[in-house]
Amino acid sequence: MSTSTSPLLPPAKLPGPNEPCWCGSGTKYKKCHRGEDSQARAPVPASRRVQPGVVSPRRPVPAHIPRPDYAETGRPGPGVLGDPTTRLTRMRRACRAAAEVLQVTGAAAQPGITTDALDALAHEEYIRRGGYPSTLGYHGFPKSLCTSVNEVILHGIPDSRALEDGDIVNLDITIYLDGMHGDCSATFPVGKIDAASEQLLRVTRECLMLGIEAVRPGLPINVIGRAIEAHAKRHGYGVVNAYCGHGIGEVFHRSPQVCHAFDPHATDIIEEGMFFTIEPMLTMGAIHHRDWDDGWTVVTADGRRSAQFEHTIFVTRDGAEILTQV
Ligand code: MF3
Ligand code: CO
Ligand code: CO
Repeated sequence: MSTSTSPLLPPAKLPGPNEPCWCGSGTKYKKCHRGEDSQARAPVPASRRVQPGVVSPRRPVPAHIPRPDYAETGRPGPGVLGDPTTRLTRMRRACRAAAEVLQVTGAAAQPGITTDALDALAHEEYIRRGGYPSTLGYHGFPKSLCTSVNEVILHGIPDSRALEDGDIVNLDITIYLDGMHGDCSATFPVGKIDAASEQLLRVTRECLMLGIEAVRPGLPINVIGRAIEAHAKRHGYGVVNAYCGHGIGEVFHRSPQVCHAFDPHATDIIEEGMFFTIEPMLTMGAIHHRDWDDGWTVVTADGRRSAQFEHTIFVTRDGAEILTQV
């Protein structure tokens, strides 16, 4: 019973069987929404899970584009320290370019397009800006962005699967430009998505912003995870703790490690001048994960959806500057 036109969603904490239903109908929970809720919280059957498609051959990058040290071998080295006086300027440029590529690629995430076609588009957009797709060849990753659909938590490989109306897809874009890596991602709705997925996307984006707002030099790095986890928990979502944000700059991944759930032992102090990412992954169900045998794709064990948003930030005197913005 509601006068609102937006569909009602069950709360994080559900009533007991004989308590009144959360929807306000006045009926006992067991006679009202209980069946529907337990259905929605059950593991997803195999037939409704994302299936791997075919991965296309590696796309070439023109010879004039400067590449990171791992491009040929797959193994990242120490990176190249460029002119230290222009570090922030170069980082701002790389991060802005990453945000632009994310925006262009995200706009193309419509029903019917394959994730491989999104890879082709992103690939061209990096090169157009004079940048190298940081993921291409990184520890052998075969593509120019990660595309993580529905229950894929992260590191999905673009392939021949076409996006379907109602999917959600995270696009994770990293560019190597002016000697620096800029890393960002967002989860996009494909066509019309259900209310529960819409809420997952909204809350995950809010978690990222709350994590960024918690950044302040002098504080332990776990203030970020504390803020993120508190907000996620309020909505009944899980926070994936097997993968973390990371320092970034001349190299793709470095210290500090930025966990998205509160870790009492993560007491490294945030320092002015640091560059790092914050990239919370939230799950509608349990946070437990499984790995596909492609060696990359990480999915929720229960097959329920997961979303992620990511920014690269710069620690200022009194907070954080978001670098991955257009
Ligand atoms: N962009 C991802 C991150 O946010 C890393 C992808 S590495 C890859 O850290 F090899 F999987 F592409
Ligand atoms: Co990323
Ligand atoms: Co990252």
